[in-house]
Amino acid sequence: MDADRPAVNDGDPARARASAALRWLARRPELKAALLASPTLSAVLKAGAARYVAGSSRAEALDRAAAFARAGHRVTIDFMGEDTSGASEARRATDEFLALVADLGPVDGASVSLDLSHVGLAVPGSGERLAREHLTEIAEQARAAGREVMISMEDSERTDAILRAHGAVGERHGNVGVTVQAALRRTPSDLPGLHARPGRVRLVKGAYAESPRVAYRRGEALDRAYLSLARTLVDAAARRGRPCSIATHDAALIGRITQLVDEATDLRRSTDAIQFEMLQGVTPDRLDALRDRGYVTRVYLVYGSEVYLYLCHRLAEHPPAVLDVLADATDGWKELSGDPAEGRTCSPARQGSPRRPARRE
Ligand code: FDA
Repeated sequence: MDADRPAVNDGDPARARASAALRWLARRPELKAALLASPTLSAVLKAGAARYVAGSSRAEALDRAAAFARAGHRVTIDFMGEDTSGASEARRATDEFLALVADLGPVDGASVSLDLSHVGLAVPGSGERLAREHLTEIAEQARAAGREVMISMEDSERTDAILRAHGAVGERHGNVGVTVQAALRRTPSDLPGLHARPGRVRLVKGAYAESPRVAYRRGEALDRAYLSLARTLVDAAARRGRPCSIATHDAALIGRITQLVDEATDLRRSTDAIQFEMLQGVTPDRLDALRDRGYVTRVYLVYGSEVYLYLCHRLAEHPPAVLDVLADATDGWKELSGDPAEGRTCSPARQGSPRRPARRE
């Protein structure tokens, strides 16, 4: 869910410039290769990304997931990747997701999230067929294990193919959900069709650079669209048990939507049908506060080797977070160089622990 994102443009020129610069850095494979070629720089990158990325291996992701589960949050785990153009790579990614489902055992309420272009959709010629076959395998294994599979939504040229795959596989496997983007003007008309199928609907703002013809830009119109879709989802969840996920870090939207949930559920907040979901390391204090008020919360964890790209995207979305990441990376470097006398720049919980306080704006 991370390709080709627009730079932040919230009226603050310094933030917009930093965001555009981070987008540019994200597209520098030579910089990524140079960082990864050096064991020291690669370890520093990993330390800097630790608040957003659960680890490079499945085992690290599962450890992190277990910690979040102990802290009272559900988790969904994504093996990072997208736009896989080779069939054998797509097969390998599918095998990793199957292994992930098999290993979720001890983590209560855990699910998996995936991009269809990671498991086949982007393979020229046979993409849609391959993605469906691979999704079916993952969905079957997940259903047998009592787990949900959430499909991410990609750029608008793929929306139809993703919704078709969700329809074909999801109708047979009620454990398959799909993400919709409030930014897309088409989403209100897609929703009734999705509600006719089983599976959770996850609502996000949308991360892709799209033409204004098909999508709203960040701002009031998008927030209004998000709220209106959230109202429909909360209503369908409360009245008909249609499961949804409200996936945003936007404090103002969350405030409005919790009111909707309270009204629709007569304050019976703890319902699995309505979950609040956030990305690991992004406003964890907001997710903790929702959990403390009795709402069902979920953390989206990623793991794998695409750390560089993922970190650039997170920072481009919110450039002030560069300061935290710089401090985390420096702590990592100090540890690596055996320089304990220098001390840490922040709390020992910095490795993205579920309890770690986040920077407040
Ligand atoms: P917005 O970007 O306006 O951020 C709201 C606030 O969050 C900011 O004001 C700031 O306080 C805080 N914040 C944001 N980023 C931060 C950071 N890096 N560090 C610290 N604070 C930060 N997109 C997509 O197109 N397809 C998909 O499938 C998915 N899937 C998905 C799953 C889940 C669980 C989430 C939470 C998000 C997605 N997304 C996605 C991404 C989504 O579309 C969107 O880009 C991000 O969630 C950011 O949008 P917000 O709604 O948080 O609002």
